Amino acid sequence: MVRFENVGLRYGTGPEVLRDISFELAAGSFHFLTGPTGAGKSSLLKLLTLSERPSRGLVTLFGQQLSKLPRGALPELRRRIGVVFQDFRLLDHMTVFDNVALPLRIAGTADRRIQEAVTDLLSWVGLGDRMHLLPPVLSGGQKQLVAIARAVVTSPQLIVADEPTGNIDREMSHKIMRLFIELNKLGTTVVVATHDMYLVDRLQKPVLELYEGKLAEASWWLSPDRAGRPAPEAPPDGPAAAPSDPPDPQAAPLDSRPDPRLDPRLDPRLDPLF
Ligand SMILES: Nc1ncnc2c1ncn2[C@@H]1O[C@H](COP(=O)(O)OP(=O)(O)OP(=O)(O)O)[C@@H](O)[C@H]1O
Ligand SMILES: [Mg+2]
Repeated sequence: MVRFENVGLRYGTGPEVLRDISFELAAGSFHFLTGPTGAGKSSLLKLLTLSERPSRGLVTLFGQQLSKLPRGALPELRRRIGVVFQDFRLLDHMTVFDNVALPLRIAGTADRRIQEAVTDLLSWVGLGDRMHLLPPVLSGGQKQLVAIARAVVTSPQLIVADEPTGNIDREMSHKIMRLFIELNKLGTTVVVATHDMYLVDRLQKPVLELYEGKLAEASWWLSPDRAGRPAPEAPPDGPAAAPSDPPDPQAAPLDSRPDPRLDPRLDPRLDPLF
């Protein structure tokens, strides 16, 4: 589905912001993309969504090598990809409904089908009563939900989401991730860039980790530093937390993460899918 071979990217004459990137995403796979601010996550996703071309190396998408593709072939490939941009990129002069309907209109979908699909999706994300508003009057989280609805409404083969839960609350984040998982089960390939290690630990999907423009070796859901992390010691005046007593992530200090070794199903507060 996606293959990067020794890919590099520089903006203009600046330094390379991505270097020696090689990986492969099988059709129907689900990957997270993580890394510190400025590591190059959005840049890598721009290559995936064909909004940037690599400065070197080979990118193959849907079995087609991009450097051999005539420019005229790009729109057709782009239509097979649903993108959630980090900065939403909604069209401010169009209503919420029309923003979500746009990719269906471009695909030539019948009006009745558009009405049904867009209304259903917007109601599902809780924006049924905001459909006829313009994006500037929405909250940041609401805009993000519109961007997500627009990305999935055409049932694309590949969904690329850049920090899709960065502006929405925990409950809605779970709902959105569940949507991505359901679409993935139906065969959609999904790539989600996120800083939210809580989601990453819970979902146990493979992780690509970027550091300063390079992919870490062995990028999997349990990264080597966390896999090798020693078990927490018992406090001097009490027993260690039992596995049936998972930590409350909300109460945890900012720099600590839920312990991935705990079975997420033990936590009744979480959606069963997590
Ligand atoms: N359009 C651009 N022109 C020049 N440099 C850019 C451009 N976009 C990004 N960069 C640079 O590329 C590097 C990687 O940026 P990128 O946005 O890909 O990081 P990121 O991992 O997505 O960060 P964040 O977690 O903040 O979203 C940064 O050093 C940034 O300054
Ligand atoms: Mg980014």
